[in-house]
Amino acid sequence: MKTAVLVGCGAMSDGWLKALAEVPELATGIRVTGLVDLDLATAKSRAEKHNLTVATGSDLGAMLEAQKPDLVFDLVIPAARAEVVKTALAHGAHVLSEKPMANTMAEAQALVTFAQQAGRLHAVIQNRRFLPGIRRIKAALPQIGALTAVHVDFFIGAHFGGFRDQMDHVLLLDMAIHTFDAARWIIDRQPIGVYARETNPKGSWYKHGASADALFDFEGGVTMTYRGSWCAEGANTAWEASWRIIGTEGTILWDGNEGITCHRVAGDEGFFRPLAPVAIPPAPPMVEGHAGVILDFLRAVESRTPPLTQGADNIRSLAMVFAAIDSATSGARTDMRPL
Ligand SMILES: NC(=O)c1ccc[n+]([C@@H]2O[C@H](COP(=O)([O-])OP(=O)(O)OC[C@H]3O[C@@H](n4cnc5c(N)ncnc54)[C@H](O)[C@@H]3O)[C@@H](O)[C@H]2O)c1
Repeated sequence: MKTAVLVGCGAMSDGWLKALAEVPELATGIRVTGLVDLDLATAKSRAEKHNLTVATGSDLGAMLEAQKPDLVFDLVIPAARAEVVKTALAHGAHVLSEKPMANTMAEAQALVTFAQQAGRLHAVIQNRRFLPGIRRIKAALPQIGALTAVHVDFFIGAHFGGFRDQMDHVLLLDMAIHTFDAARWIIDRQPIGVYARETNPKGSWYKHGASADALFDFEGGVTMTYRGSWCAEGANTAWEASWRIIGTEGTILWDGNEGITCHRVAGDEGFFRPLAPVAIPPAPPMVEGHAGVILDFLRAVESRTPPLTQGADNIRSLAMVFAAIDSATSGARTDMRPL
């Protein structure tokens, strides 16, 4: 049984605490011993809501001194992340952070180095990797030959209110990290450059960057296009986006949920070559979403193996976000150096 302190008791913490209590593998593997929030009343009310008899506090360092947990769950706002992760690693804890991994590339790089020096794991919640749909796509990729292109559409008319309405680069910074990370996992190569454009369309209820288009080059000549908007009313895609994945021998279409079709070439004559449908088997049973990432992290800590979403790799998805912002800002293509 590992002990954990959770820091940042805002909106996201409800889902975490529910998963930790209700998913059997987590309930038997992790015991939360402390809740921390800058606002002590928030930490206390979260403990009360989830019937937790745990320490509460507003000072992470003091909590870690007192509790000496194996794990720290970091759910603070992005601007506070780097300091929180450093403090947790310095106290000998393994850290699982909410996305995004950091507020800047320099911060993210420093966290990778810091975790290595501390000899502790730092991983990031990329919950989209822990859904049956993307697992089925990953398993089906060999059916379409060599991967050449991935085209992704994300269109959701989302009225959050709150901080997102005032953010710069809102779509790329707050949402595209999920889609870019999923694309990078599917493509399984390094991104090498991007041309991107951001707009804030007429009628947008956001201050900046509610829509974006990006064209990424990956190693090996694989391309990825992204068209996205958070102010497109009328025909929402899934939160996981809508995908066209093209290989040398066929195409997979994925609606982001359970709708997956795959066709591959079944003959070498005719203007349109004959196609055969390929059945895509269901994913093996799995713990999904946030709970899946937390469980993967727990297993990694127990076995001292890298988790799927470790920071040293996740920084490459964050690099896609910042390269896209850089390109959209400069109006020119941004080259990406391998990380
Ligand atoms: N993975 C997902 O699908 C997903 C979805 C939504 C949000 N998120 C991410 O989760 C994180 C938290 O989002 P939220 O919606 O819960 O935000 P929130 O604003 O509701 O809560 C953040 C909490 O952190 C506390 N906090 C800030 N700085 C702190 C510090 N230095 N020490 C202790 N507490 C501190 C605040 O007081 C607040 O209670 C963000 O990084 C966000 O991007 C992830």
